[in-house]
Amino acid sequence: MLAGWERRATRDGGALYCSAMIHAGPEVSVVVPIFNERDNLIELTEKIRTALGDTAWEIIYVDDDSPDRSAELARELAAQDSRVRCVQRIGRRGLSSACVEGMLASSAPYLAVIDGDLQHDESLLPHMLTELKAGQLDMVVGSRYVQGGGTGDWDAKRLRLSKLGTRFSRVLVPDQLTDPMSGFFMMRRAVFDAAVHDLSTIGTKILTDLFASTAQPLRFKELPYSFRLRTAGDSKLDSLTRWEYAMLLLDKLAGHIIPVRFIAFCIVGALGVGVHFAVLTPLLQFAHVRFPAAQAAATICAMTFNFAVNNVLTYRDQRLRGWRWLRGWLSFNLACSVGAFMNVGLATYLNEISGTRYLAALGGIAVGAAWNYAVTKRFTWNSSQA
Ligand code: GDD
Ligand code: MN
Repeated sequence: MLAGWERRATRDGGALYCSAMIHAGPEVSVVVPIFNERDNLIELTEKIRTALGDTAWEIIYVDDDSPDRSAELARELAAQDSRVRCVQRIGRRGLSSACVEGMLASSAPYLAVIDGDLQHDESLLPHMLTELKAGQLDMVVGSRYVQGGGTGDWDAKRLRLSKLGTRFSRVLVPDQLTDPMSGFFMMRRAVFDAAVHDLSTIGTKILTDLFASTAQPLRFKELPYSFRLRTAGDSKLDSLTRWEYAMLLLDKLAGHIIPVRFIAFCIVGALGVGVHFAVLTPLLQFAHVRFPAAQAAATICAMTFNFAVNNVLTYRDQRLRGWRWLRGWLSFNLACSVGAFMNVGLATYLNEISGTRYLAALGGIAVGAAWNYAVTKRFTWNSSQA
């Protein structure tokens, strides 16, 4: 054996030859999803460094190509301290998926997630670790709703919405968990490993996702903390966060039967029918446009509406912008035109053989929708996921 190398056992009983100079890996990885958090990174890094002290920690920043070049700063911090790392994703968005990819980049036996805007209380991290290391727990959650916790400056509306979301999530998470929407927690790696293939990674509520994706009930504890005021940067969460949360819950409940994106696609399609008639009616009645021209105009409007709304809701994580939006619009219209031919062709045939007009129409719509979904998923948004 080479001098300076030593034999170490791997977990499965194999052997690994390592340089004696190599340090052991981190005990805890703190995954921090960031988007435009440049003004918070230096302070947060410092605070986590102070909070975790001698513990073998690492920070994994996961940035979605923020325009403020947060990733660049994260890499500068990493250059000064090798315990800091940065994963930069291009052409993707999503808080939950960012957390998952950060955790996948870690080898630590304990995994934590904390926001990158200093709103969570990083001084809880060592306590979370102590609780987990005691061996009786799988997960420790920072909660705003247990005795001693707080929601900071939240107004009545946001509080009401948060509580409403918590109530809806009850079908999937245990009653005793007071803050399933929390984005601040630490868990054993085994919990993540057991859940990772079943995670939906839709939207922002990765904790709900984790609780709903583990076959065994998790042994957990909540520690109180007060949600701090954001002093730099802006919140990225908006009203669409609620839609994403609904999609997450739906995916967890029915995703194994029907892809939740397909459900969203159909909901948008149904709204598109409304848009079609909202355009068609005035064109026919007030502008006295001839039917084929009015129908063509209404179809283009409805398809544009469907494309734009699907781009924002159904494919929020892969949203097309700029010239890619235009190219997407074109491919969407092309795919849906073929879908429309299939729809009409099949419905006509079904009507001829069965004579049941409405059922024939439904059959045509179902096949057209499935085609539109499958083709635009692949070619408009270039997605290989369900
Ligand atoms: N990589 C990445 N990609 N990070 C993101 C994205 C994204 O698409 N969207 C948001 N983030 C990062 C932010 O930069 C921040 O560090 C963290 O995720 C939380 O986002 P905020 O925009 O600050 O969320 P908030 O303060 O409104 O929401 C908080 O409350 C929720 C509870 O209701 C967060 O703590 C959530 O984690 C928590 O679930
Ligand atoms: Mn925040």
